[in-house]
Amino acid sequence: MSDSPVSYGKNGSIGVISINNPPVNALSQKVRQGISDALEESLGDNSKILLIMCKGRTFIAGADITELGKPPVPPHLPDIITRMENHPKPIVMALHGNALGGGLELAMAGHYRCAIPGTKLGLPEVKLGLLPGAGGTQRLPRLVGPENALDMIVSGNPINAEKALKMGLIDHLLDEDIEKSAIAYANQLIQSNSDVRPTGKISVTTPSNSNLFSEYRNRVARKTRGQIAPDFIIKLVELACSSDIIAGQEKEREYFLECRSSPQSAALRHVFFAERATSKLPDIPSDTQPRDISSAGVIGAGTMGGGIAMCFANAGIPVKLIDTDSDAVARGMQIIEKNYANSMKRGRFTQEKVDAAMSCITASTEFESLKEADIVIEAVFENMAVKEKVFSQMDEVCKKGAILASNTSYLDIDQLADSTNRAKDVIGSHFFSPANVMKLLEIVRATRTAPDVVQTLIKLSRKIGKVPVAVGLCHGFVGNRMLKGYGRQAQLLLLEGASPQQIDSVMEGWGLAMGPLAVSDLAGLDIGYRSRRDQGLVSGELPEFALPDALVELDRLGQKSSAGYYQYDKETRARQIDPEVEALLKDIAARFEITRQTISEEVILDRLLLALVNEGTRILEEGIATRPSDIDIVYLNGYGFPAWRGGPMFHADTVGLDTVVEKITALYNSTQDDFWKPSKLLENLVEKGDTLSSLNNK
Ligand code: 3HC
Ligand code: NAI
Repeated sequence: MSDSPVSYGKNGSIGVISINNPPVNALSQKVRQGISDALEESLGDNSKILLIMCKGRTFIAGADITELGKPPVPPHLPDIITRMENHPKPIVMALHGNALGGGLELAMAGHYRCAIPGTKLGLPEVKLGLLPGAGGTQRLPRLVGPENALDMIVSGNPINAEKALKMGLIDHLLDEDIEKSAIAYANQLIQSNSDVRPTGKISVTTPSNSNLFSEYRNRVARKTRGQIAPDFIIKLVELACSSDIIAGQEKEREYFLECRSSPQSAALRHVFFAERATSKLPDIPSDTQPRDISSAGVIGAGTMGGGIAMCFANAGIPVKLIDTDSDAVARGMQIIEKNYANSMKRGRFTQEKVDAAMSCITASTEFESLKEADIVIEAVFENMAVKEKVFSQMDEVCKKGAILASNTSYLDIDQLADSTNRAKDVIGSHFFSPANVMKLLEIVRATRTAPDVVQTLIKLSRKIGKVPVAVGLCHGFVGNRMLKGYGRQAQLLLLEGASPQQIDSVMEGWGLAMGPLAVSDLAGLDIGYRSRRDQGLVSGELPEFALPDALVELDRLGQKSSAGYYQYDKETRARQIDPEVEALLKDIAARFEITRQTISEEVILDRLLLALVNEGTRILEEGIATRPSDIDIVYLNGYGFPAWRGGPMFHADTVGLDTVVEKITALYNSTQDDFWKPSKLLENLVEKGDTLSSLNNK
């Protein structure tokens, strides 16, 4: 019996090529070989038309990503696609689930396309640092016009079959029973003597706007900053408008190979697998049954509580939002309404969607109303005594088996669990601000948290559109703990001579969404100030806090007071350098006897990135994170780290761990700052000639 994932058989006059390569029918070498063989076989029989379809939950979801980093093995996809397009018999492609990347490229080389309703069609290669490498940039504009093609390929976002039909990407919508209705459609095409229709022969419609491509480039410049694939894609769609398919595909191949061998694509492929790995915990069997979550409660209707309630509501889970008094509840509900109104204005939500979400949220001042909730998340002030009291109230009111979670940023969840009689049901669920937008959810496992509670949070995260990363207990967990060293380096660099603008521009130029000082201004400098006072730190005593302490005492709280590390325009929020900050820096540096001097871009990058790397590897050493790639996912989804750099741990491998340790050691030698002692893990890996990525296969 053949072990090919592709079979060929006849159904009347139809030659049926059937692909079965679970889980997503990726175009592995065996699949390509199987399609190639089936095309050959079909030439020798009396079939009048060919039908290509897939078994399982989806049509082809693209090239096999695991093969992309390895030398390509024939038959190559572009060759198969050319053969399909030039095949003498009409080919019908029947799609369901997802037709993505190479899958859609294959579909576009067929002569007729049909799909069941809801099928997703897209070219997501850009999300892997690639561009469609098998004719996608040339055939899609021929089928849907250059404007639609640009939108689909540059964003990488799929469209559904209904929209694809309107655009001309497919020809026919099937019934849910794909096999039956695809056969019926193919027979219909035979009866109407439908002939081959090579997509490559279609001319691209001329764009209605002659400046389409330059305007498009400007429009996406900010979002695609630093990445190589988007600009290639725009060039290729432009080329499709003026050249034949052969010349277009040649150029596409050249750019594709350049992208495929780029560090950006290696990084984004790492991210693809890293995102999926976070759900797999070595000590929790994957078949652990999660608890049912059909209703939720959130305590504290402030900045975070409101956002968290929105996450549940958006997923259709009824949620009770509790605060101490009716004013606080009303304020919280107003903010939620305003957020939804903004989402509608930006076209992200329809009125219907907003109405449905709002109907899921009930506000109250009564803890009693939480008694039926399957999970309750506490998001009250960051103060242990306040939170302990809330946890004991939750324990009193909530039903047996309900999960009690805390959104604390730093506090000890074991201590919160001690305020209850159900420590195994207590866990940290650390959302990021704004909670309804940011993708990351750090799931903090306390010492006694039950495995099924962890599993429930992982499943729930996916349901409410979050990327879960399970972490262990320590001050600041993974993300904020690493941020502490990073922020401290930024402050020391300021005292040593850098300006806020210089540090932020260097980091933003490197790819971060925002530099560290701009982020602090956005979050509000008073939060850290209050926390430092709560910890008993004296204002201005430590060099790394002297400037933010001074700024807060001058009522410069960040964007909310239009002044912090920068001055802000009240209308546009545009930031401007502020001479007052420069003067403060000079004074503070003199007080700490620090000589200010010119700081280079390289020093800024090294100090800030190596701070993340060194602390990240300590976190791994302590078992707080399961694997290096989990830390990368935390930084990409919670801290605006550029995905195309792969995350701080992946970046360390890219630089080379020997270089990393050399630089960290040099920093230790020059500062005698214990922070810069290289972590044992880094030293061990260097000694063995190993990488951090080698630890990802847990
Ligand atoms: N290659 C290899 N493995 C793949 C894969 C692919 N293209 N797509 C998915 N997988 C694997 C996942 O890693 C996962 O493995 P795991 O169970 O061991 O973790 C498994 O398939 C299931 O995937 P998901 O968990 O993501 O399943 P979902 O049902 O949530 O999502 C999907 C399905 C929407 C198809 C999603 O997997 C996806 O977006 N896949 C990638 C699509 C893509 O990027 N295609 C373009 C590839 S590049 C290309 O085609 C180049 C061409 O132009 C030449
Ligand atoms: P906030 O001050 O905006 O909101 C706190 C809310 O809790 C207020 O509405 C207050 O009235 C309410 N509250 C206080 N005591 C209460 C009680 N006993 N019962 C019911 N309600 C009570 O605070 P924010 O920023 O939303 O933070 C909440 C938690 O989330 C904190 O633990 C914080 O560390 C954490 N966090 C905050 C982030 C942020 O960026 N703001 C990010 C991630 C976590």
